[in-house]
Amino acid sequence: MKKILLTGVNGQVGYALQKKLSQHQVFALNREQLDLSDKDAIRRLMQALKPDLIINPAAYTAVDKAESEPELAYTINAIAPQILAEEAAKLNAALIYFSTDYVYDGSKIADYLETDAVNPLSVYGKSKLAGEEAIRAVGLPHLILRTSWVYGAYGKNFLKTIIRLASERDSLRIVADQFGAPTSAESIADAVMELLAVWQPQQANQTGVYHFTNQGKTSWHGFSCAIVNEYNRLAVIKNEDLLKASVENIAAITTADYPTPAVRPANSTLNNRKLKQTFNVSLPNWEQGLQQVMQSLD
Ligand SMILES: NC(=O)c1ccc[n+]([C@@H]2O[C@H](COP(=O)([O-])OP(=O)(O)OC[C@H]3O[C@@H](n4cnc5c(N)ncnc54)[C@H](OP(=O)(O)O)[C@@H]3O)[C@@H](O)[C@H]2O)c1
Repeated sequence: MKKILLTGVNGQVGYALQKKLSQHQVFALNREQLDLSDKDAIRRLMQALKPDLIINPAAYTAVDKAESEPELAYTINAIAPQILAEEAAKLNAALIYFSTDYVYDGSKIADYLETDAVNPLSVYGKSKLAGEEAIRAVGLPHLILRTSWVYGAYGKNFLKTIIRLASERDSLRIVADQFGAPTSAESIADAVMELLAVWQPQQANQTGVYHFTNQGKTSWHGFSCAIVNEYNRLAVIKNEDLLKASVENIAAITTADYPTPAVRPANSTLNNRKLKQTFNVSLPNWEQGLQQVMQSLD
């Protein structure tokens, strides 16, 4: 049994993790209990609680808004993890930090490996990479888990937006030239639990960066079609109304047709082989992850 400090419990990953960590002693903290923009509060809390392990899914995740709030994004995504890492090092504790596929520029055709060059295109991606670098510089035992396109039954996310839009409108227009792996918060939490059973933080060769996504790849358009298909399949079984927009009415558009403040990588599919080889842990295929989440929706 470990003494774990878990941040961001009102976020998608934090919420999913909190539900699964019951066999450990967990200090599960929301923003009111630990504001990560308050450095002194982080230090005070770490010194008072003395955890063995810090799991930090809390983050500034508003990718487009970060372009106009870079300082706040860096404070939460880079400075707060650095302070958590410094305090953890004093306690001989370990740290799990979640990072992002947006550390890559997306120009690679094949799946990204952890050894590939990073080159974030957005403030969000840069701030998360700065968090990774700060943790590495402190030098404590850590796992940096780069995940992608996170959604789940709980919280605000792309899946919820598509279901809402497809229930209100006859047709949708969705970007079809950005590729990655939609990853459910539930799959992430399951895989973290498996990791906790096998990770030996004092083994220096296990410390490092790991890709941590559901398997396979699709585009936002492909993901949207799968969401609508799965929703309607379950609606038939439950004898409920189908969505207004059918898959045939989801138009495939380009990134140029849908300009956003933050530039996103065209391909951010992450190869998870290192995770499998080091820990024998893997996340399911993204379609399987989607089915699980859809079945758990109210
Ligand atoms: N979402 C994605 O698509 C995605 C993709 C790749 C990587 N990731 C990474 O995966 C991790 C988990 O993401 P997620 O989707 O679970 O994020 P999320 O649902 O957006 O949750 C983030 C959490 O961070 C909390 N937070 C924000 N500012 C804070 C502050 N100043 N002090 C304390 N807590 C604060 C938020 O609190 P409130 O609830 O109070 O707002 C929220 O609960 C993050 O590290 C993220 O960077 C996410």
